[in-house]
Amino acid sequence: MRPSRSDPVGAGTRMPVSTVPGRSASRKSMRGRVGVAMRESTEVMRLADHFRNAPSVFTSSPLYRSLCMSAADDRDLLEILTERRAGQQPSYLLLGAVHYLLLRGVRHRLRDFYPSLVGSAAADPNDAGPVFLDFCRVHRAELRRLVRERLVQTNVVKRSVALKIAMSVIADRCDRPVHLIEVGASAGVHLLFDRYRYVISGRTSGPADADVTIETKWLGSDLPPAYDRCPPIAGRTGVDINPVDVTDPDERLWLRALVWPENQQEADLLSAAFHQLIEYPVDVIAGDAIDICPSLGRRLPPGEPRVVFHAATRMHVPPAQRAEFDSAIDSIGEHGPLFHVWQEPSTAPPRGSGTDVPEALAMHGPDGIDPIPLIQVDGHLEWIAPLTVEVR
Ligand SMILES: C[S@@+](CC[C@H](N)C(=O)[O-])C[C@H]1O[C@@H](n2cnc3c(N)ncnc32)[C@H](O)[C@@H]1O
Repeated sequence: MRPSRSDPVGAGTRMPVSTVPGRSASRKSMRGRVGVAMRESTEVMRLADHFRNAPSVFTSSPLYRSLCMSAADDRDLLEILTERRAGQQPSYLLLGAVHYLLLRGVRHRLRDFYPSLVGSAAADPNDAGPVFLDFCRVHRAELRRLVRERLVQTNVVKRSVALKIAMSVIADRCDRPVHLIEVGASAGVHLLFDRYRYVISGRTSGPADADVTIETKWLGSDLPPAYDRCPPIAGRTGVDINPVDVTDPDERLWLRALVWPENQQEADLLSAAFHQLIEYPVDVIAGDAIDICPSLGRRLPPGEPRVVFHAATRMHVPPAQRAEFDSAIDSIGEHGPLFHVWQEPSTAPPRGSGTDVPEALAMHGPDGIDPIPLIQVDGHLEWIAPLTVEVR
């Protein structure tokens, strides 16, 4: 049995029976160890289910769909993931860690399957499983360290479309400058959303000379709305448990590794957004939103409107802490009108405000209006659709 967090010395270092202080103490510690082993084994079974179901998530990654099925059957590999930090999505974390090692230059034939490393010459993903498991065995120690230390912080530049749309709706209701706060900002790419140009099924908005252009598809039958209004931005602040420093090449590499290997366009967008952040740095406060938001709300000029945005963040907050997370955001509205905007999967909607669509951009306004879904979105903003259209 390997050492675990709750059993730091591990069964291998158990005292010999003759030196054990007493029988009942020995039985107790035995029961303790059995309990730990059972908890771990239940967790490994849950992880196996998670990986078996993960292919439905990796819609644009045939490679990750294949790797998830192999991981699901490898108990030793799954055990590493029992050491991840709270709230971390296991498949994103493990596959990100493997991709990071490969991008860093680790030599192994697994790289032949990664379009991010060998382009269109990538080998058939359906053959990758045994090679992947071999990689994980050989590099187990590095993987374990990464899984223990790193966070799933994927900064998806295209999600700025969601903020852009919400700001356009807010501009219709609020003619004063707003303070923008992004909770779970990662490197902060969305805080610069108004520097980007948007092309939504051919309809453009944003600065024509922008260095970052984001394209997405509109699945409605009519032309997409213009979404070209925006209130003046009085200030912009991020909050993150672990703000990513884009001036550090290793931190940039970790975020790059979290982009799925087939999604070169997303990787290119991320790199362009990094350049913007280096040129126009944003302030991302380090800490848990639960602790930071109340004081941040108090520090903003009283009475001035604020917009809090979060995307793919509440889903990473452990379920037991989600009510506190929501209250912390609400507290920002105690000192000025609050527009609370989110893009979270239907499994983690704030205020239990689920819609019957899998993922929506939704907003809660300061004028007593309950959460309103604005539009259906793909998790990576590959498309957006009116609420009335059935997309799946
Ligand atoms: C998957 S990333 C999404 C980043 C960004 N919102 C996006 O959509 O591109 C989630 C981010 O939320 C942060 N996070 C998770 N829980 C948090 C909390 N309780 N307080 C602050 N940040 C948190 C993580 O560190 C991570 O950077």
